[in-house]
Amino acid sequence: MPVNIAIFASGAGSNAQKIIDHFRDNEKIKVALIVCNNPLAGVLQIAEREKVPSLLIERQRFVKGDAYLPELKAAGIDFIVLAGFLWKIPTALIDAYPQQIVNIHPALLPKFGGKGMYGQNVHEAVIAAGEKESGITIHYVDGHYDNGDIIFQAKCEVADDDTPHSLAQKIHLLEHQHFPVAIEEIIGKLKC
Ligand code: GRF
Repeated sequence: MPVNIAIFASGAGSNAQKIIDHFRDNEKIKVALIVCNNPLAGVLQIAEREKVPSLLIERQRFVKGDAYLPELKAAGIDFIVLAGFLWKIPTALIDAYPQQIVNIHPALLPKFGGKGMYGQNVHEAVIAAGEKESGITIHYVDGHYDNGDIIFQAKCEVADDDTPHSLAQKIHLLEHQHFPVAIEEIIGKLKC
């Protein structure tokens, strides 16, 4: 039986695409579901093209209801990957998936994390702070934004002429290079 991953995403889904690519021929790990909170998100087109089932969720039921646990269990989901998912994860989901939910953040946590720190906001804050380096953080998810135990970090230089856009491009490269591999390693440790 493969380990079934659900990818939660709210945006373009470039990380979701890389994760799907990485596990495409993997017998032991499968991307079984894309969960999204935005009907216009690019990640839904990726799900359709890649023939991965998708689940469109709405806030009330996710935050105050059953967090769509019935659908996740029906899909046999064992592990949850947040790849640009903008809502906080409710306790119901965290309790159902202890140490089985990971997130990627486009900065070197604990700096430049927390509510509102996503996408370009992060890169603008890093540049405004005069940081000489930035990077990515992969971490376990707890009930707070960008707060769980850190699993992996990778760094890049912030050049004097970097803009939030050029820095975002460097960060995306790091994400695409490291996130799929990190997920495979984390799941590998889970199995034994
Ligand atoms: C990434 O920068 C990730 O670090 C952050 O959200 C963004 C998602 O980008 N959590 P994409 O939708 O995967 O292209």
